[in-house]
Amino acid sequence: MTAILPESTTPTPAVDLEAVSKSYRRGDEIVHVLDHFSFTVASGDFIALMAPSGSGKSTLLNLIGGLDHPDQGRIRVAGTELAGLRESALTRWRSRNIGFIFQLYYLIPVLSAARNVELPLLLQPLSRAERAKRVEAALTLTGLPNERHHFRPPELSGGQQQRVAIARAIVTDPPLLLCDEPTGDLDRAAGNEILELLKTLNERLHKTILMVTHDPHAAELAHRVVHLEKGLVGELRAA
Ligand SMILES: Nc1ncnc2c1ncn2[C@@H]1O[C@H](COP(=O)(O)OP(=O)(O)O)[C@@H](O)[C@H]1O
Ligand SMILES: [Mg+2]
Repeated sequence: MTAILPESTTPTPAVDLEAVSKSYRRGDEIVHVLDHFSFTVASGDFIALMAPSGSGKSTLLNLIGGLDHPDQGRIRVAGTELAGLRESALTRWRSRNIGFIFQLYYLIPVLSAARNVELPLLLQPLSRAERAKRVEAALTLTGLPNERHHFRPPELSGGQQQRVAIARAIVTDPPLLLCDEPTGDLDRAAGNEILELLKTLNERLHKTILMVTHDPHAAELAHRVVHLEKGLVGELRAA
């Protein structure tokens, strides 16, 4: 007799998109960016997503992070259905569940590295001392030298700025990191160091990572490389 696993023992995927559609209006034209797009990321996975420019990669990350809403379809992140959250609940949910890492870092130039990393913690009821402790721990984990924790972003190299941005993304200890071309603005050596750091976060801290990238080195580090040729239409399959 075949044993059937009860549904509750199936691990909840980190990300689960079901027939998601998203279009934008551009003048008179409607651009269908995602068309009934289905996609699953297992918890603990490290996926490199490669697709041509303009094919909807950033749109996809924004939808998964609840920064944008789909026209149709269902998005669940770690079992939470995003459509069920109102804007204020969504903001709180995002601050605990998602870390965003962008190509251009998006650090605040007048604040020190440590102050930038502290920002997401201001949404949580923590003492100043507890915030400082977590900020130091996150920055140290990224390998930014101690003496640079109080430098401002313009005083840091690109690779160091990306380390600060990664510290900001992980300081609230979210299970899922969404990375949008995180090495796109770095030279090869600095880019490789950032990829190694992401791999470490995946292996040691068990962060699930969905990374959009054009970086060929990413293919060697990720568990799964997903190539998309024609945009994010229909079922996504690993190449
Ligand atoms: N807010 C927006 N308004 C109108 N069009 C948009 C908007 N965001 C993205 N697009 C369009 O959607 C398509 C996909 O964009 P994007 O997700 O940024 O692609 P990628 O990250 O793969 O380069 C592009 O044609 C882009 O011009
Ligand atoms: Mg993009």
